[in-house]
Amino acid sequence: IFSNVTQAPADPILGLTDAFKADTRPTKVNLGVGIYKDEAGQTPVLSSVKKAEAKLIEIEKSKSYLGIDGVQAYNQAVQALLFGDASPIIADKRARTAQAPGGTGSLRMAAEFLVNNTSADTIWVSNPTWANHQSIFSAAGLNIETYDYYVAEQHDIDFDAMLASLANAKAGDIVLLHGCCHNPTGIDLTIDQWRQIGELCVKQQLVPLFDFAYQGFGAGIEEDAQGLRTVAAQVSELIVANSFSKNFGLYNERIGAVTLVAVNSEEAERAFSQVKKTIRSSYSNPPAHGGLIVSTILADAELRAEWEQELAQMRSRIAQMRELFVATLAAEGVTQDFSFIAKQNGMFSFSGLSKEQVARLKDEFGVYIVGSGRISVAGLTKANLPVVCKAIAQVL
Ligand code: LMR
Repeated sequence: IFSNVTQAPADPILGLTDAFKADTRPTKVNLGVGIYKDEAGQTPVLSSVKKAEAKLIEIEKSKSYLGIDGVQAYNQAVQALLFGDASPIIADKRARTAQAPGGTGSLRMAAEFLVNNTSADTIWVSNPTWANHQSIFSAAGLNIETYDYYVAEQHDIDFDAMLASLANAKAGDIVLLHGCCHNPTGIDLTIDQWRQIGELCVKQQLVPLFDFAYQGFGAGIEEDAQGLRTVAAQVSELIVANSFSKNFGLYNERIGAVTLVAVNSEEAERAFSQVKKTIRSSYSNPPAHGGLIVSTILADAELRAEWEQELAQMRSRIAQMRELFVATLAAEGVTQDFSFIAKQNGMFSFSGLSKEQVARLKDEFGVYIVGSGRISVAGLTKANLPVVCKAIAQVL
């Protein structure tokens, strides 16, 4: 039965890491996948995470199954991070959260729940969007439409074009929105634009699905949630798929959550029973470790303060790298204006480099970036910047 199976193409992001690992050049630099590196080029376990893990090893008494929706304290903590402690959505019990394996697992569970239990058959994603969105949503059986978002020439959003595209969506369609730090462009909506998106969702009866993977990597934990909270205050139904891969550095623990908000608590409970059914037939129930780490940190004032500080450090190092990236390109004699890189949010910079230039960076200089021209700024360091900028200067 396997003889007719065709070769799948390499993954546009994770496939690059495989190619990078096989590269023997000592000066190689991996700016493909979104993984935070410190100044020494390492991705260490956060100190708050290490302390939470030590605590967990002390108190752990059993490895018995979690419930289908995971650690309850974790799910409550997720809702507070998303909507704010004092949110009426929480007080009115309109939200239900299931711990799920990372942002990808959360998105997939959301999509399968929608396909199997609602009239939703189409999801609108931004052009461009994260390379995996298409695969996740089509695997779940959703049709995919794109809405205009980014204009390459201006390195900016065309918001009118975004609204015009979404005017073509039909009632019951899903709109995928990047909560903050848009991947890959790094350009986010303003609060007024978020309000207009909320209005449009209400008017056209569209259901927002937030992909929220970078909370705290833009302006701050609370600040980055303002877009989501603005829309959530307007609509009666939405779903959030969030991830703690980046902001807790828990990449390989696969820890995220799918949160469903309904018009009232009774409807939320009923709809959530189907989310749980979806999970049960997929991976049964989530692994415990990541959820316990996050809930331990968020419940302990001291650990939480330490985590917030570590997150702030990551955020400010990335901002510093953006400035230095622009300055080093200029120092390498690049005359093209790259100042837009300093204005983008989050881990990524959408460089505008062409497919050919990206291929030359890899083949001739061992600098790995995603084919779309997306550069993980979080992987730049003072040590590798000159190598990267020299290479870019050569291929321009
Ligand atoms: C990325 O976009 O690089 C990250 O979200 C990692 C991934 O899974 O692609």
